[in-house]
Amino acid sequence: MAERAPLIELRNVSKSFAGIQALRDVSIAVHAGSILCLLGDNGAGKSTLIKILSGFHPPSSGVIFVDGAETRFSSPREARGLGIATVHQEVGTIPLMSVARNFFLGAEPTKGWGPFRHLDIARAETIALEQIRGFGITRVTNGDQLVGTLSGGERQVIAIARAMYFGARILILDEPTSALGVKEAAKVLTLVKTVRAKGIGIVFITHNARHAMLIGDRFVVLNQGGVSAAFNRGEKSREEVLNLMAGGKQTEQIEADLALFEEDGQGAL
Ligand SMILES: Nc1ncnc2c1ncn2[C@@H]1O[C@H](COP(=O)(O)OP(=O)(O)OP(=O)(O)O)[C@@H](O)[C@H]1O
Ligand SMILES: [Mg+2]
Repeated sequence: MAERAPLIELRNVSKSFAGIQALRDVSIAVHAGSILCLLGDNGAGKSTLIKILSGFHPPSSGVIFVDGAETRFSSPREARGLGIATVHQEVGTIPLMSVARNFFLGAEPTKGWGPFRHLDIARAETIALEQIRGFGITRVTNGDQLVGTLSGGERQVIAIARAMYFGARILILDEPTSALGVKEAAKVLTLVKTVRAKGIGIVFITHNARHAMLIGDRFVVLNQGGVSAAFNRGEKSREEVLNLMAGGKQTEQIEADLALFEEDGQGAL
């Protein structure tokens, strides 16, 4: 039986901005029901890679394949239309809008037609509540509650549930656990596994090697725009991964940084 083509694949993609080479010769593949962890230090090119996957930037060179077919995105809308959803770190949800409005963000169901068409808020609230409950958020009982009153983890869940509701096949998560405490991060990681089990292809961007190793099936480490390592689950120890992410920085130093970080109750898991 022929192997199924990746949902999306970049082959030998490079990207330059006015003399800065943000990506050089990067090849990655995202498969259905699999989590690709994208690791790398600040400035490594992670966001640039996401922007190419989601149609914000065209590559300077190299090729994008979707379902095995060579593709050029003319806009983020076109990428979304192919089922590529991105949850950005900061702008995943809008605090001063309700749960229901955040869930639909301009795509609310309507009632009536022609000049009588108006938003069906009641229906939007029912659907939004139903969907986020399906992903384990039971504390919210009112669709008109403001998102600003929810925890960081709950907000991530809303953004992910929304992407799923609108038919995502490829879910790109930019540092979904970085601003979260231990329990909240665990919730989000569990949710990401649930989404994987539905056959979605996931790109999980993180600085946190532990989080990556808890859920990743495949790992790609970016360093100064290039792929410095690519490996499958179980092929490397956490120490090796930390070393790779640091691009030569000593493991002991990283462990010390991590220990400090964990004292803040941030990244531990
Ligand atoms: N629109 C742009 N114009 C010019 N340079 C850019 C642009 N976008 C990114 N760069 C440069 O490309 C390089 C990679 O940036 P990128 O934002 O992709 O890194 P990153 O891995 O997401 O980092 P971080 O962890 O800090 O978010 C950096 O040197 C950055 O300054
Ligand atoms: Mg970035």
